[in-house]
This record gives sequence, C-alpha cells and structure tokens, in this order.
Amino acid sequence: MTVHFIGAGPGAADLITVRGRDRIAACPVCLYAGSLVAPEILGWCPPGARIVDTAPLDLDAIVAEIEAAQARGQDVARLHSGDLAIWSALAEQMRRLDRLGIPYTVTPGVPAFSAAAAALRRELTVPGLAQSVVLTRSSGRASAMPERERLAAFAATGATLALHLSIHVVEKLVAEVTPFYGAACPAAIVYRASWPDERVLTGTLATIAGQAAEAGLERQALILVGPAIEPREFRESALYAADYDRRFRPGGAVAAEGAR
Ligand SMILES: C[S@@+](CC[C@H](N)C(=O)[O-])C[C@H]1O[C@@H](n2cnc3c(N)ncnc32)[C@H](O)[C@@H]1O
Repeated sequence: MTVHFIGAGPGAADLITVRGRDRIAACPVCLYAGSLVAPEILGWCPPGARIVDTAPLDLDAIVAEIEAAQARGQDVARLHSGDLAIWSALAEQMRRLDRLGIPYTVTPGVPAFSAAAAALRRELTVPGLAQSVVLTRSSGRASAMPERERLAAFAATGATLALHLSIHVVEKLVAEVTPFYGAACPAAIVYRASWPDERVLTGTLATIAGQAAEAGLERQALILVGPAIEPREFRESALYAADYDRRFRPGGAVAAEGAR
C-alpha cells in the first residue's frame, strides 16, 4: 500500500500531469483538498472509490483515513492544489507517514504562480528587469512568517514578487513594497487562474489595491509585482542571438538551453 501525493494543479482539470491523472485512476481511495480541486478530476477515480473531502478534517483525521486504507491494503491518492513544494502541508503529512512506516510518492503539479503568469501572458524573468522570482506570502493564522523573511527585505532586491495568500491585505502589502518599486511599478492580480471564473487585473502599485477592492476579490488570488509584469523596454536574451549561436551553440539550441 502506498500514498501518492499529487499536485492537482491550479484549477483547470487538464493542467494536472499525466502521471497525476493515472495515479488517481489507479487508487481506490482519494483524499482531496476541498473546492480547490476541480470536480472533473475526482471523476477519474475508479468506480466505487472512497472519495473524501479533507477540508473539514484535521491532520489526525486525515492520517486515520490513510491508516484505514492501509488496513484494507488500498493505495491512496492525496490531492493538493497547485504544486506540493509550496504551502501544501506536505511536510507534516510525510512526517506522520514516516513515523507509521507508510510508503509514499510525490507527483508535482502546475503551481498557481505559473498559471497566473500564463493568464497574464507574461514571463516573470525578463533580461535586465528581473532574473529572480520571490514566492512569498503574508503572515497567517496557520503559519506566522519567520522574522527574517520580511517583505521589505525581498522587495529591496527588485525581483518579481509573487504574493500568495495575501489578497485580504493587498493594501498593506502595496504600502510596504511601494518605497522599493515606486508607485508606477506594474502590478497584477490573477483571481482563480485557469478556472472558468478566472479574472485578471493589471495596473500599477498606485492602482492595484483599489482595483482589487472594486472587483471584490477576497481569496484564491495571486498578486504579482515588478517591472517584468509590464515590460515596456528590455533587451533580448543572448540565448537566441545570432553571434551567441555561432560562438556558443555549435551543438544547436538544446546545448544553449543547458548553458542558460
Ligand atoms: C495554500 S496556497 C497553495 C499554493 C499551491 N500549492 C501552489 O502550488 O500554487 C493557496 C494560495 O495560492 C494562490 N492560488 C492557488 N490557486 C490559485 C489560482 N488558481 N489562481 C490564483 N491564485 C491561486 C492564492 O494566493 C492562494 O491564497
């Protein structure tokens, strides 16, 4: 018996990986993170599968479900939204399974920040503007921010910021980052990226909090800040430049990708 942790992607069912879909189809038990997982995905569970919404359950109850499946000798598909590498509560679940000697696998998923960038049709790293992306959040009831991970410290780098779990405090965050980026800096909010009711707001640090309030966005939204969000002027990457090609790409484009 094995527990398969699966990143279910940002929302749209067809943004899950092929491996994730196949694992769901092979598991007689499916534990999923409530409304964050599209109903269509649950439709891939085999006939007669036990399908449990874990939104109202605490960690003990989730582990009890897994232990019951183990007693029946049944594999479990454990679905979380987006990817498992960020804010998925994966670490605490794996620690419990390690203690119980229950084996598990981890299948990645498309994270929300990627889906938000796709909705905006933007690259978050643009030559000369930003070459780093900071994935961060505001302090929450479930997890306080470590003292050294202050937003101001990240903002001082000028990197593209992807602010999760923060739409309810967008005004406060805008006030914190504006001294570093300037009020005219491009900013965007993507609400429920890839879901049918997806919404995209684009503006600047001066306007974005007001736009969010006007739209009434309260949850499941990502705030993106930085010059790469609306790159008016930037140089081209050397990767596909003709002289770069001659000097460094004798083996073709694939070799150049590796050297980037
Ligand atoms: C608990 S975190 C989960 C992150 C997830 N593990 C990932 O890989 O993106 C939830 C936050 O991710 C962001 N988020 C998740 N799904 C989203 C979506 N479809 N569109 C926009 N933001 C989303 C929101 O900021 C939300 O508050």
